Amino acid sequence: MTAPREFLADVTEIRRKARQHLSEGAVTQNYGGSAEEAVVLLNHAVATEIVCILRYKYHAVCATGLASEAVKQEFAQHAKEEEQHLDLLTERINQLGGKPNLDPDGIASRAASQYVEGENLVDMIKEDLVAERVAIETYREMVRYFGEEDPTTRVLLERILAQEEEHANDMHDLLVSHEGRPMLEK
Ligand SMILES: [Fe+2]
Ligand SMILES: [Fe+2]
Repeated sequence: MTAPREFLADVTEIRRKARQHLSEGAVTQNYGGSAEEAVVLLNHAVATEIVCILRYKYHAVCATGLASEAVKQEFAQHAKEEEQHLDLLTERINQLGGKPNLDPDGIASRAASQYVEGENLVDMIKEDLVAERVAIETYREMVRYFGEEDPTTRVLLERILAQEEEHANDMHDLLVSHEGRPMLEK
């Protein structure tokens, strides 16, 4: 265990270092990873979230059929939550001294998830489930990458990951309850 005096010495040193490099904002000298690499990775997640927002918004508006009202609401709710993820990611990028890449050019190729309209309600639900599973895989990888080197980013990604798992679960439930039904409308 660190003796109190040593700890105090550390505090003095931490304070001294904190006063240096003020232009680097939240990225202090003991930042474990490479902030540039972190920003690149987080910008991939930004693109993934944008694609998910757009796909859910399309599904929320274009789903048809008598069974679709509750599903549309679920799609719209997910679109909102994906937007919150986007905000968390762009804020973190900013804290790390980077620029969020919101340039519409190239978003689809930077994203891990895909924009698929789907032919009918079940198709839409399936596409959303696929996209959630892609998001879960990539966030899980990112959580491992940030590990102990950047706990703030890791915890943020863990929060997002937990919600993507809920989303996948929601889509799975919807799929189970709608897959067996005849399509009332295409
Ligand atoms: Fe998301
Ligand atoms: Fe999601």
